[in-house]
Amino acid sequence: MPSDTLLITGGAGYIGSHTVRHLLEQHERVVVLDNLVFGHRDALPADRVTLVEGDMADAALVERVFAEHAPEAVLHFAAFAYVGESVTDPLKYYRNNLAAPLTLLEAMQRHGCRRFIFSSTCATYGDPVRVPIDESHPQSPVNPYGASKWMLERVLRDCDTAWGLKSVFLRYFNASGCHPSGEIGEDHDPETHLIPLVLQAAAGKREHITIFGTDYPTPDGTCIRDYIHVCDLASAHALALDYLRGGGETIAVNLGTGRGFSVREIIATAEAVTGKTIPVRHGARRAGDPAELVADPALALKVLGWKAARLDPREHIESAWKWMSRPHGGRYRK
Ligand code: UFG
Repeated sequence: MPSDTLLITGGAGYIGSHTVRHLLEQHERVVVLDNLVFGHRDALPADRVTLVEGDMADAALVERVFAEHAPEAVLHFAAFAYVGESVTDPLKYYRNNLAAPLTLLEAMQRHGCRRFIFSSTCATYGDPVRVPIDESHPQSPVNPYGASKWMLERVLRDCDTAWGLKSVFLRYFNASGCHPSGEIGEDHDPETHLIPLVLQAAAGKREHITIFGTDYPTPDGTCIRDYIHVCDLASAHALALDYLRGGGETIAVNLGTGRGFSVREIIATAEAVTGKTIPVRHGARRAGDPAELVADPALALKVLGWKAARLDPREHIESAWKWMSRPHGGRYRK
């Protein structure tokens, strides 16, 4: 019999740790499974979370976790997420993002755990044929990262057909920002995401930010993205859990604001927030970057009762700047 414990893979990572914090505030009981390859022990409150340090591909370990905690649901964050690396080393991505979760799913099937919340991505859509992107948009990923997530969505649908696994595929747009407390935040190594890189340039930790492409068919020539605050992502997970607890069927849901901002707009906002001039260079387009990715988030409101509360990227940048301005400079000890 499942207990009321939630198993969170990748719970020590950026989005996972913010979600853990939110779930704890909702009085949920949480067990985190994280191999700490990209996750940080210090991103979790040690006194309130059981951290099992290990890999979801370790069948014996996963079996022990299920036998001991009998989780009611799994929130699955653990994945590699470097799009460029996925192109040069696709097997690494298919191994970790597609094959490894099968071990987890086998344990769920054995133990009668039938609720799964999956960190999917707008990268499953590939180059958009229309914007804003709703969930019925064709899925045609253009890199192995997006493909690995898209394939796992398919696996999860097949598990629903075969043994009644109910999943919510949360298709994140561009996660950004940090917890307003400044206590947890974004710490990737290497960092590739726009907002932390821009703020590193503002802090003098890098010489400049390079804009990848200024000749896109957008008003200012730079790419447009839908920046969704990590705390809004966290609250969506809690609502997805309510949805499944209420008997909801397997469904894919976009998590975005429905508003797009260009690279130049992000840099200008970061200059306003930090009061610093950010040195900018103009570079070539980055392979695989669509000109514009903006969500149609209407379905999330309809089925989950969720809508982003932090619509202005200024708030995202302020919270990220607060995190980076701490004595540790936005880096966890471990
Ligand atoms: N960018 C720059 N310079 C940089 C870094 C980024 O101009 O140094 C631009 C990119 O070209 C892009 C925008 O800033 O137009 C945002 O880039 P990010 O790397 O921050 O994020 P992506 O849009 O590449 O995010 C994508 C997908 C997500 C996916 C994520 C994985 O949109 O679905 O990669 O990390 F999850």
